[in-house]
Amino acid sequence: MLVLGLETSCDETGVALYDSERGLLADALFSQIDLHRVYGGVVPELASRDHVKRMLPLIRQVLDEAGASREQIEAIAYTSGPGLVGALLVGAACAQALAFAWGIPAVGVHHMEGHLLAPMLEETPPAFPFVALLVSGGHTQLVRVDGIGRYQLLGESLDDAAGEAFDKTAKLMGLRYPGGPEIARLAEQGTAGRFTFPRPMTDRPGLDFSFSGLKTFTLNTWQQCRDAGDASEQTRADIALAFQEAVVDTLTIKCKRALKQTGLNSLVIAGGVSANSALRQSLEGMLAGLKGKVFYARPRFCTDNGAMIAYAGCQRLLAGQHEGPEIKVQARWPMEQLPAI
Ligand SMILES: Nc1ncnc2c1ncn2[C@@H]1O[C@H](COP(=O)(O)OP(=O)(O)OP(=O)(O)O)[C@@H](O)[C@H]1O
Ligand SMILES: [Mg+2]
Repeated sequence: MLVLGLETSCDETGVALYDSERGLLADALFSQIDLHRVYGGVVPELASRDHVKRMLPLIRQVLDEAGASREQIEAIAYTSGPGLVGALLVGAACAQALAFAWGIPAVGVHHMEGHLLAPMLEETPPAFPFVALLVSGGHTQLVRVDGIGRYQLLGESLDDAAGEAFDKTAKLMGLRYPGGPEIARLAEQGTAGRFTFPRPMTDRPGLDFSFSGLKTFTLNTWQQCRDAGDASEQTRADIALAFQEAVVDTLTIKCKRALKQTGLNSLVIAGGVSANSALRQSLEGMLAGLKGKVFYARPRFCTDNGAMIAYAGCQRLLAGQHEGPEIKVQARWPMEQLPAI
C-alpha cells in the first residue's frame, strides 16, 4: 500500500511517501526554525500560515523524488493530534481534501505514536515488547509497548518536558532557539566536574520526571557566575555540560528502573531529544550492562517528520482503520486512548 504522510503538528511541515512493500520512497521537510527564532519560540499563527504555503510544493517534491504519480497513492495519513490546533488543521484539511478528490481513504495519526514508531524505519527495527522513552519538545514519557496501540504509560514529566527544559534553559543562557542542539554543541567544550547539578526525582521511587527545578538551578548558577564577573564562553559551556549531564543521568536512571520493573531489556528512544549523542551513549552503556539493546531513529527522524506519520498511518490503514470525511484534530490526546491493532 502506497501512503502519503503529512505532518504539521508544530513548526515543521513534513511530507513522505511510504510503501508497505518497498519501505520509505521519499521524504521532504520544511523547518520553520528561522521564522520563529526571532521570537525565541514557536508562534502558532505564523506556524499555521507557513504550513499552508509549504504543503503542496512538498507533496509535489516527494512525488518527483519517488518517481511516483498521484494516481499511485492509495491512502493519506496525517497528524491529527496532539499539537497546535491551527497547525494540525492545515494538515488535516489538506489530507481530507486530497483524499476526497482522489477517492482514497485518510487516517489521522497520533503524533507521539509516529515518534514512537520512527525507529521501525531503520535497518534493525525493535521487536515488541519494549520500553519506550519519548523525549521531545512537548513530552517526556516512559511507556511499555506490547504492540501498535498497546501502550501502558509508566511515568511522565510532572512539569517541563526534557526538550522544553533544554529550550528554556538555553534561552535563559542567551542561546538560540531551539536550545537542545545549541546546548549539546556547547557541552562538547565543557569541563567535566566543574559543576554538578541535581538529578531531580531520582532519590524517590517511581518513574515520573520533573525538569523545571533543574532549569531554575541552571539559571541561578549562570547568574551567580555572571554576578561574580565570569560570563565567559568557557563557563557557559561548563554549565551547559552540567545541565546536559543531569538530564541524561536522570533519564538513564529512570529508564533502567522501567526496564527492571517490566523485566524487559529492549529500549526505544524517540522524539527530538533522542538525537542527543550523550543520551544515546549513556543509554547504550546502561543497556550493555543488561545485555539488552537501545533502538533509535536516524537524527532527522527523531524530530518531527512526515516519514513517521506515513509509517504509523500505513500500519493502521493495513489493519482496516480510516476516518470519515470530517476534519477533526485534538490538541490533547493521551496515547493510551488509541485502539490496538
Ligand atoms: N541534540 C539534541 N539534544 C537535546 N535536545 C534536542 C536535540 N535535538 C533536538 N532537541 C530538542 O528536541 C525538541 C524537538 O523535538 P520534537 O520535534 O520531537 O518535539 P515537538 O514536536 O516540538 O514536541 P512533541 O513531539 O512533544 O509535540 C526540541 O525541544 C529540541 O531542543
Ligand atoms: Mg514532535
